[in-house]
Amino acid sequence: MPDQMAVSGSQRDLDLLNGAPSQRDADLMDIVSGLKARQKTLPTRLFYDEAGCELFRRITMLPEYHVTRAETALLDLHRDEITADVAHDTSLVEYGASDERKGVALIDAAPDAITTYVPIDIAGPALAALAARLETSHPTLRVQPVEADFTGPVSLPAAGGGGRLGFFPGSTIGNFDPPLVRRFLEQARSDLADGVRDAPVRFLIGTDLFRDRSELIPAYDDAAGVTAQFNKNILRHVNRITGAAFDTARFNHRAVWNQQAGRIEMHLVSTVAQVVEVAGHGVAFARGETIHTESSYKHTREGFTALANQAGWRAERFWTDPDGFFGLHGLLAA
Ligand code: AVJ
Repeated sequence: MPDQMAVSGSQRDLDLLNGAPSQRDADLMDIVSGLKARQKTLPTRLFYDEAGCELFRRITMLPEYHVTRAETALLDLHRDEITADVAHDTSLVEYGASDERKGVALIDAAPDAITTYVPIDIAGPALAALAARLETSHPTLRVQPVEADFTGPVSLPAAGGGGRLGFFPGSTIGNFDPPLVRRFLEQARSDLADGVRDAPVRFLIGTDLFRDRSELIPAYDDAAGVTAQFNKNILRHVNRITGAAFDTARFNHRAVWNQQAGRIEMHLVSTVAQVVEVAGHGVAFARGETIHTESSYKHTREGFTALANQAGWRAERFWTDPDGFFGLHGLLAA
């Protein structure tokens, strides 16, 4: 049934089939090398195919998952303070802008200052849809989408006279190991400052905060099993990319707190001894062996500030909720 793929695949999958091979090549290489490692891993970005994006949207509404609610409430409560120092004709540059809701909260708080919105995302179709919505809702806003993997350098459209305000919400930075956090913050500093003269360069970053493990585990292992579905869905995505035949029924979801590293880890646990063919490689699993699919680091305010300082940023502001669940870090390029 050749039409099946056109119906069920995402637009990006179709683009990839139609000869935009580089992201697919990168995915394939990362999948194979991850599955050949002693602790098997898969690239966390592969959670977010179309089904995965929908499952993540459901996670954000779970009673156990505080991250999105906590951040949205903080942005809402402090939006005037957050945007108070934003100069006229500033570009808001959002990293990982699969939708515009959080960016728009800032834009609407300072519509005269933020004249330009630069959403960066790896998913081109999502960016196009976002731009189309903004054309209707914010007709005078200049929208300049950038399709890119922002773990590397990103070349940004020229900034206006007000400089740039970077925005990295959602605790997505929690997926990065500390060395990558540093590299990313350094890279973003140089990208955001590029071509800006006599205007501020700031970066607003949301991070989930470090606290007791017993409170954190249910957020990654919810009673309704949505996170388990989200975790297993990565195998379906890997099947589509590589032609492998991972059977999701032969893996269980597991969330563990790694105290030493200060992170939640998600794993897929093989329930049987099995060999799965992946792009010509036989990948052998012992019963109980795991694939590490995600690390979700929980930063302390001080720990994150230290990383930011090392990367050339000065911690200018900090907002948190009364429980100290979530932190919004306001950084200024030093
Ligand atoms: C989107 C990376 C912030 O780590 O909390 C949610 C992803 N994984 N449930 C997180 C996620 C499992 C989420 N981030």
